[in-house]
Amino acid sequence: MIIAANFKTNHTRVSTKTYMDKLAAFVEKEAITEDVLVFPPATSLDSYHYHDNLRVGVQNAYPVEKGSFTGEIGLEQISEFGIKTILIGHSERRHILGESQEEIAKKFAFFAEAGFEIVYCVGEPKEVREKGIESVMAYNLSQFEGIDTNYENLIIAYEPVWAIGTGLTASNEQIEETLGELKKHVAKPLLYGGSVKVANTKEILEIKNCEGILVGTASWDVDSFCEMVAIAKRLS
Ligand code: PGA
Repeated sequence: MIIAANFKTNHTRVSTKTYMDKLAAFVEKEAITEDVLVFPPATSLDSYHYHDNLRVGVQNAYPVEKGSFTGEIGLEQISEFGIKTILIGHSERRHILGESQEEIAKKFAFFAEAGFEIVYCVGEPKEVREKGIESVMAYNLSQFEGIDTNYENLIIAYEPVWAIGTGLTASNEQIEETLGELKKHVAKPLLYGGSVKVANTKEILEIKNCEGILVGTASWDVDSFCEMVAIAKRLS
């Protein structure tokens, strides 16, 4: 299974180091073999190399080696830390920061070419969910436009926009149905994200076709994230 933590705009360089040390000690002590991914903010990136299955990734980057792109980081800055994992297409980047599907596809192609492990996010807003599964799938599949879904190092995260950071989790039936439909189109590991917490981790990980979780808010506390990793271990 894949258990991923998205810090978003939380944690500092110092608190990320404390977090990573604690998480690495936990992974070691519990002999965790699940894939554990952590996406800290760009200022907290560093050469974190503990175990092959505990990896740090970037939440975003600009699809260039280096150059004049004020405020962005490129491949050169990421590679300094040996990082080879990236989150692409997160709904906050799509809907708050206005990243278009075209820009996202460019980013995807660039980091695929560079051999990155890509966690690619899709998910529908509330008004689309209310129209039913056909609309939900049409929306989600449109977010694969320009994306090579056969890329070997690809993980898909299904994160309904209305469930992110809202405390509203999609129902198990909604998750199962959507993941089942997605699986017909993309033969890659599927994660669910959207208000996952310790209390619902087990039931979500037990859903058919759910191979992991992408956790925001509940991952910011290292003890609660470790607990979710422990739950995944018990299930596998
Ligand atoms: P949340 O965020 O767990 O706070 O809902 C999930 C995500 O955005 O990846």
